[in-house]
Amino acid sequence: MSQITVSELSLEPSEPETAVLEIEHLALARRAGDDDVLLVSDVSISVGPGETVGVVGESGCGKSLSALAALQLLPESVRQVAGRVVFQGQDLTELNEKQLRALRGSEIAAIFQDPQNSLNPAFTIGNHMVECLRTKQPSLSRHAARKRAIELLDRVGIVAAEQRLRAYPHEFSGGMAQRVMIALAIANDPTLLIADEPTTALDVTVQQQILDLLTDLQREDGLSIVLISHDLAVVGSVAHRVAVLYAGETIEEGPTARVLNHPWHPYTRALLLAQPSTAGKGIDSIVFAVDLSFDSTTRLDAKRLHGNITSIIREGEPKMDVVFLLLTAGLAALSLGLIVVCNSLMGEKS
Ligand SMILES: Nc1ncnc2c1ncn2[C@@H]1O[C@H](COP(=O)(O)OP(=O)(O)OP(=O)(O)O)[C@@H](O)[C@H]1O
Ligand SMILES: [Mg+2]
Repeated sequence: MSQITVSELSLEPSEPETAVLEIEHLALARRAGDDDVLLVSDVSISVGPGETVGVVGESGCGKSLSALAALQLLPESVRQVAGRVVFQGQDLTELNEKQLRALRGSEIAAIFQDPQNSLNPAFTIGNHMVECLRTKQPSLSRHAARKRAIELLDRVGIVAAEQRLRAYPHEFSGGMAQRVMIALAIANDPTLLIADEPTTALDVTVQQQILDLLTDLQREDGLSIVLISHDLAVVGSVAHRVAVLYAGETIEEGPTARVLNHPWHPYTRALLLAQPSTAGKGIDSIVFAVDLSFDSTTRLDAKRLHGNITSIIREGEPKMDVVFLLLTAGLAALSLGLIVVCNSLMGEKS
């Protein structure tokens, strides 16, 4: 199994004494008349002061919904059915909307995947920042807000900040737009930053710059960060601890070096094998495909097995002997009565 590079930062995990954020046994359901559909069944994430916690797991496992629950910004169609979201000792579900609004953007800030989409193309970066700063702090004059915007852009590494305020979003690269979002997020010295796939839309070099910036903020300002990413290398390079989610549950949690280099749960091992550098390299791929295909109640899901095997073939570009082994695994599945797997698999490769 490959070893993900784990930063020095994560070699000395800080065990939180008093958690800044504690998501405890969170369950979320989609409103569907009398029969709510469970989307998240048991997610627990704890973040200590000045700590970065990575949250990883495959698409649809509940990372973003858990982040939105931490912000108490769940979509209309989704409701919390169990668990607690505690921020600095306060259960957020007990707060009213006014109290929550006061927390969001000041104590708890968030950044998301596509920063360009958060910026209106008709307004300059300066307009955005001044409006945003004055919304949070109405007593701030336009002049003072502009001065603060320059300081913030400086802080997040945008050179010639004063001139940049006059630029429109389309004149900013994705990395610069994300820096603007980070500048706005830290404007009120938040205690906690929730970053949902903040570097996914960026190319690799820029991605590293943004991660370095987040690490600087975490170190210098003592910011606590929840970093959601599907990319274990990203999490490995900046997080002190990692929570692994699978099918709506936290299935493993611990110091980054331990979780990524010595995973306990089969799903975490499978996730590590799924990284592009290792997928499709041999018998491990089959173990990975089968592991991934078991749901949390350990039933083998035929469609999922098919999906996992074909994605290894497609993405991992395995050699012919590996394809053969994968097909054999498909045939083994057939003998278990999982006809759909082999039918589709044969169709795909022939
Ligand atoms: N607004 C919504 N209404 C109903 N169901 C939703 C809504 N948003 C997400 N879901 C469902 O909840 C589950 C968890 O979704 P979520 O967006 O949290 O996944 P994720 O782990 O962030 O995935 P990704 O890596 O693709 O971003 C999925 O099954 C998804 O289809
Ligand atoms: Mg998501």
